[in-house]
Amino acid sequence: MAAKIFMDMPGGLKMPAIGLGTWQSSDAEIENVLDTALESGYRHIDTAFSYENEATIGRILKNWFSCGKLKREEVFITTKLPMPGVHQDRVEMFMKKSLENLQLEYVDLYLIHFPIGTKYVEGQALPTPDKTQTEPTDHVAIWKKMEEQVDAGRTKTIGVSNFNLKQVDRILKSARIKPACLQVELHIYLQQRQLVTFCHQNSIVVVAYSPLGSPAFNKFLALFGLPPKKLPDMLHDETIKGMATKYKKTNAQIMLRYLLQRKIAAIPKSVTAARIKENIEIFDFNICAADMKILDDLEVGEKARICDFKLFSGILEHPEYPFPK
Ligand SMILES: NC(=O)c1ccc[n+]([C@@H]2O[C@H](COP(=O)([O-])OP(=O)(O)OC[C@H]3O[C@@H](n4cnc5c(N)ncnc54)[C@H](OP(=O)(O)O)[C@@H]3O)[C@@H](O)[C@H]2O)c1
Repeated sequence: MAAKIFMDMPGGLKMPAIGLGTWQSSDAEIENVLDTALESGYRHIDTAFSYENEATIGRILKNWFSCGKLKREEVFITTKLPMPGVHQDRVEMFMKKSLENLQLEYVDLYLIHFPIGTKYVEGQALPTPDKTQTEPTDHVAIWKKMEEQVDAGRTKTIGVSNFNLKQVDRILKSARIKPACLQVELHIYLQQRQLVTFCHQNSIVVVAYSPLGSPAFNKFLALFGLPPKKLPDMLHDETIKGMATKYKKTNAQIMLRYLLQRKIAAIPKSVTAARIKENIEIFDFNICAADMKILDDLEVGEKARICDFKLFSGILEHPEYPFPK
């Protein structure tokens, strides 16, 4: 395999540019998925308290560590503070719950999952969509608690997810420990150029979630009896297909390589062995400048946003709703 690419993080930490996404990966699926991913060279795993699969991921990682196939410091692990934890009084509690689930002393990156906090109900990882109770959310106070997690050695770095430019800037202005990462929805149809430039100017690593356009998003809506949404279909885009033929790659590989050449990390999710391998085989080719420009021009913008979190009732009215309404 060609040399992998890493994103520089504070303290000399390096984030592998391709990580394994695990949202919607069930416990049963994760068993095989994680072994396949680690055997295929993945050294970056993205999970979250609200994905409810941290414990299985932790158990499999422990197997790899205890038989000496992998050292803890060789794998970059991200997890996230769930919406019911987005309150200054609950950051430490949720951080500790995640470490316990993962059976780890520390994670590499701890992210605030979403800029709006919701009422905490014991045992609930996510608010119930039609009964979501949002709370006033004080980012500066919450960030201080995030910084304390670094001080306590529970996480190497901290960052945010789904925050907009203004919200990231507010944290930057008050932070003692600057955010090291912004994880946002980002793909060829929603390129987030202004946000990416701002982050890069401030040494914040950008991680693209749903980099393939989250084709199974409607399964998530169906869990709550919600109607399907019309999704952008980049995996069958004819322009990308033409380029895939030219470079002898797949649409998915073109989309991921495009992000990499824009210095953006990506965390494609798959539970299919062949796709898991395919998604990391992107370090052995280069998209030329003229083709990068063609891909730039596929930008659709806001209309292509998939994960708008609007299924949670009352979220749009909250002053910290991060996306254009
Ligand atoms: N911070 C946040 O709020 C947030 C929100 C959403 C996602 N995320 C993170 O980002 C990760 C990725 O996002 P995502 O899961 O929404 O979507 P995604 O990675 O864009 O797409 C995943 C889907 O694409 C399919 N797929 C994967 N590789 C493929 C390939 N090479 N060819 C064709 N189909 C392929 C997968 O199918 P199979 O699994 O059936 O193979 C799965 O249905 C998540 O898993 C999660 O870790 C974070």
